[in-house]
Amino acid sequence: MASLQVSGVTVSFGGNRALDGVALTAEAGRVTGLIGPNGAGKSTLFDVASGLRRPSSGQVRLDGRDVTRARPSARARHGLARTFQRLELFGRLSVRDNLLVAAELGPERRRAEQVVTEILHRLDLTDVADTSPDALPTGVGRLVEVGRALAIRPKVLLLDEPAAGQDAEETERFAELLRALTEDGTAVVLVEHDMSLVMAVCDEVYVLDLGKIIAVGPPEVIRSDETVLAAYLGDA
Ligand SMILES: Nc1ncnc2c1ncn2[C@@H]1O[C@H](COP(=O)(O)OP(=O)(O)OP(=O)(O)O)[C@@H](O)[C@H]1O
Ligand SMILES: [Mg+2]
Repeated sequence: MASLQVSGVTVSFGGNRALDGVALTAEAGRVTGLIGPNGAGKSTLFDVASGLRRPSSGQVRLDGRDVTRARPSARARHGLARTFQRLELFGRLSVRDNLLVAAELGPERRRAEQVVTEILHRLDLTDVADTSPDALPTGVGRLVEVGRALAIRPKVLLLDEPAAGQDAEETERFAELLRALTEDGTAVVLVEHDMSLVMAVCDEVYVLDLGKIIAVGPPEVIRSDETVLAAYLGDA
């Protein structure tokens, strides 16, 4: 069964249709890419999936359960976690405490400290655990956001441009992390402008343009799709 299923989602801002009948399915153990030009509606789709924005029509299902009207916190309890394109970390808390706040909401809240220690280690953040995220370079801050999302032990993980600000070596390590997460059975949805990362890690790629899905397929097909090239890759 699909871990995350979005169907017929429409969102308008005034007269502007940011999303127009969008459908997307993310399966456990796979990385699903979501690409498209600036303003295509990618972050808005994450807002709808995570419950920060109510669509004017359409449905969101998590593990088959209709959560279209559920609050963000309820969706988190059902295993949905996300990161933000603009970092939304707590600057007054240490890196460790940013993760701890999340771990205490998750299914392993009774062993939250251990969960956090394990994730800090996994993301190579142990050395900066007692630092404020505000003091870290953006690329590392993005990892802290990913760590905070992982601390709720998500079944579905939505990542909004997680590699922006990472250097080539950080991106390579990040790709390895994504592969490891899918081996654990997580459904990952990746919004990313770094095409080499998208092509390297995604099992399936959705292309959004002006609020509509214009192509879906394996990365090697998407890469040579003429409609996609015209809309996006041509100017990337
Ligand atoms: N709060 C808002 N109020 C009005 N319009 C908005 C709002 N949020 C997004 N939009 C508009 O909705 C459209 C989709 O924006 P969105 O941020 O989802 O795109 P995106 O694909 O994430 O772009 P980017 O690659 O630049 O992050 C754009 O036209 C944007 O201007
Ligand atoms: Mg965006």
